[in-house]
Amino acid sequence: MAEGPFAHAASAPSPGAVGRARAARGTRPGHDRLRAEGAALQRLEIPVVAYEARAQAFMAELGFSLGADGVWRDRAGRSYAEALAGRGRPTAFVRTWGCQMNEADSEALLGQLLQMGFGEAGSAEEADLVLLNTCAVRGTAAEHALGEVGRLKELKRERPHVRLAVCGCLTQMPETVAYLRERAPHVDLVFGTHNLHDLPRLLYRAYVEEAMTVDVWEAAPETVEHLPVRRAPGLKAWVNVIYGCDKHCTYCIVPRTRGRERSRRPGDVLAEVEALAAQGYQEVTLLGQNVNAYGKGLGGYDFADLLRDVARVPGIRWIRYTTSHPRDFTRRLVETIASEPKVCEHFHLPVQSGSDHVLRWMNRGYTRASYLRLIEWVRELVPHATITTDIIVGFPRETEADFRETLSLVEEVGFDNAFTFVYSPRAGTAAARWEDPVPAEVKHERLARLNELQYAISRRKNEALVGRTVEVLVEGPSRKDPHVLTARTRGNRLVLVPGGPEQAWRFARARIAAAETWTLRGELVDAPGAA
Ligand code: 5AD
Ligand code: SF4
Repeated sequence: MAEGPFAHAASAPSPGAVGRARAARGTRPGHDRLRAEGAALQRLEIPVVAYEARAQAFMAELGFSLGADGVWRDRAGRSYAEALAGRGRPTAFVRTWGCQMNEADSEALLGQLLQMGFGEAGSAEEADLVLLNTCAVRGTAAEHALGEVGRLKELKRERPHVRLAVCGCLTQMPETVAYLRERAPHVDLVFGTHNLHDLPRLLYRAYVEEAMTVDVWEAAPETVEHLPVRRAPGLKAWVNVIYGCDKHCTYCIVPRTRGRERSRRPGDVLAEVEALAAQGYQEVTLLGQNVNAYGKGLGGYDFADLLRDVARVPGIRWIRYTTSHPRDFTRRLVETIASEPKVCEHFHLPVQSGSDHVLRWMNRGYTRASYLRLIEWVRELVPHATITTDIIVGFPRETEADFRETLSLVEEVGFDNAFTFVYSPRAGTAAARWEDPVPAEVKHERLARLNELQYAISRRKNEALVGRTVEVLVEGPSRKDPHVLTARTRGNRLVLVPGGPEQAWRFARARIAAAETWTLRGELVDAPGAA
């Protein structure tokens, strides 16, 4: 270990201390009980620990405690970030790829960094510490992130004091770690999705160890609550409800990168939502790889119960959730959504394929017919719902006939929008080992045909809204034009409305004047503050 910034600290944690902490994490206290509003006593299989207690124990060993300003400081008032970086007011930048789960993780990373005393940098170029939170879902996502790792080599050459960390889904894969060791020795720290709450300790190691620090856990031994979270400005907040996925779709890397399903305790979720409401947040999105699986091991309390309890929290006006698995979407859940006015009328139901053969090869656990039955329930119980989906084309052995089944399903359902992808083999998944006779050009041609169909449907669905007045949550200025604001309907459609920043972040009504494939254009009907 090199002479580090803490060589003078009263008691720098020994590797032994780290080892002991790791051993303690392995223990399973068995039954943990907690009473939640509206929920029965829960039986938990995975221990729950509080972030504050864990961080405090580690920081105390280094002589730091939480100051009145919410920053870890030593007796001399120096922040932990300053001690690590050896300079005044160091800044950090977190770049995120991937889904909302990764976005939420990055908010927890940034929250910890701010608590350490790092300032927020606007870009990697200005930062003293750069974190790349990566996605592994498709080859392109992985290539983007690794391309950025390569690009930052130059940055480190110009500013050698900069520390570079790579984390997220991609680093859960040993092949990524091997790649980084071999090809990117300028990376200082590699960690994964299961230990992001350990950032104070990880950064300590990254700053004192000369070689690349690699600390990736294979599984999550516990659920960590109360992480400090730096949320994006506005009225909307993410709330994790379930981590991981047990579904094992044959194309999907997620079980490898995010581990087994773990539901948070209802009481913890509700406490977080109540705290958010108290801070003025009015929209929450409940997050999980498969939110419908919520509650396994919670004694019968399920996602419908959770939605109902979250809807009881005063101050929360809109509730969203993502992502759903059609297999676990019960009629009871559709009924609950229909009966809770706060739950937005948006169903994202990834179908992946319209062919029963392909669905079976994908191990999706539903058929075209059972998927269509779910769509019927939605149409019957929530008539104006927006329905969106994800589709993969070019799955191994997908024939032209299979693909046409997908096209016909897309026509039959009339999705408001679809996220469409060419199948990308992911190392370690079942499908990646299968022969794939479908040539790449055919896959791309299928994607183009699917997109052409879906774009026409999306445009038609948007056009049907022209002339209507809809409820929206006005967000911030659009990226392209500062005199235009983006707004979202309950159905999660994007509406562009003229307006300045003083009109941002409020609920309002918008009259729809024009429709394009991806967006609606309209104008706000209410005066500011009227909503
Ligand atoms: N190849 C292509 N698309 C994929 N997705 C997940 N794994 C793959 C893969 N290996 C898509 C699915 C999923 C969405 C998040 O990404 O459509 O619903
Ligand atoms: Fe990407 Fe999946 Fe990880 Fe989300 S969970 S960041 S989509 S690999």
